[in-house]
Amino acid sequence: MSLSRRTFVRTLGAGSAGALSAAWGIGRGRTALAWSSDPVESAVQAATQEIIRISGNENARGPGRAAVEAMEEVLHGNVGRYGFSAPADLAEALARNTGHGLTPENVITATGSGALLQAGTRAYVSPTRPLVNATPSFLSTNRTAETLGAEIRLVPVLADLSIDLDGMAEAANGAGMVFLCNPNNPTATAHSHADIAAYIRRVKSSSPDTAILVDEAYIEYATDPAVDTAAAEALEYDDVFITRTFSKAYGMAGMRLGWAAGRPATLAKLQAAWGLGNINVMTAAGALASLDDPDHMVAEREENRRIREFTINAFKEMGYEATDSQTNFLFVNIRQPAADFRDAAREQGVMVGRDFPPMENSHSRISLGTMEEMQRAVEVFKRILET
Ligand SMILES: Cc1ncc(COP(=O)(O)O)c(C=O)c1O
Repeated sequence: MSLSRRTFVRTLGAGSAGALSAAWGIGRGRTALAWSSDPVESAVQAATQEIIRISGNENARGPGRAAVEAMEEVLHGNVGRYGFSAPADLAEALARNTGHGLTPENVITATGSGALLQAGTRAYVSPTRPLVNATPSFLSTNRTAETLGAEIRLVPVLADLSIDLDGMAEAANGAGMVFLCNPNNPTATAHSHADIAAYIRRVKSSSPDTAILVDEAYIEYATDPAVDTAAAEALEYDDVFITRTFSKAYGMAGMRLGWAAGRPATLAKLQAAWGLGNINVMTAAGALASLDDPDHMVAEREENRRIREFTINAFKEMGYEATDSQTNFLFVNIRQPAADFRDAAREQGVMVGRDFPPMENSHSRISLGTMEEMQRAVEVFKRILET
């Protein structure tokens, strides 16, 4: 490893925000084939060598200019002060920005939505109260449930790889919590708001004590107009909440900010179950500036849609189908083990997603990088899939 962590920090710190994005997005130098398991070291590799990192559903473009400028202002102002007002300021801005009847009392923030998933599982799941999740889906709540010694009811996705809401409703009877990822990671599919609202209504009448967590980490990228937040349902029922994040469309994964919305009594249970962290002042400033810059989100969504369409079409031309992606990643039927495809891609400088059982022998999850990265990645995919 030729670059130390300190060099990495200095390299990124030296340039402007634009240079930072370019370093992450494009990379330079030679190809590294030995990947470090340390996330910081592997980020060094991805940032400084000829590697295209499309494995983690991150945002290759980072935050918008207004957010970067707001964070720089705080950095050069006084980061020596605590950000006591950050939670209240963010709750107010998030409620106003989201609408659907949310007030600041319906919003809590955390250092990433992962902390809220952990809190929800700890609040509602136990050895006598199972967790329900689709499979494949995001695994974070499963991992927490395992540490709690709780049963996990896994409901396979349907033939089109969308979540089986009927199956999830049956599995919910007597469960502690349902984790419903909409859009779903890794299948990239999404259900309409009408379907999600009907699901919540059904479970709340058949199993009223079961909590429902609707994870909307990727919802800003959904272009199907029928897909929308379940914020209103989170206000309507006890123990129903949505989680959102600044890690995806807002491009701030490294800054760590997530939030949940629900009734105050529901949110109090989450706060009692797990530490949600203190939001740092730069993150808060970046998030507030992002929320004040809706044009950037429109442009970000459109750029993602353009890159998504290009990449889906490229696979189609090669004879491979992706699901109907409503996210910043694709789930592609590559008709071979994901590990073989991943290893072959890595040898040619492209890092794609890990295995997603039970579909690890047929599907690969490919995050969307910049258009330039995807054009280069597609050439690599062609070499692998067309030979
Ligand atoms: C579906 C889903 N939920 C939650 C998270 C966690 O995001 P964060 O903790 O960065 O907000 C991720 C991250 O990849 C995700 O894919």
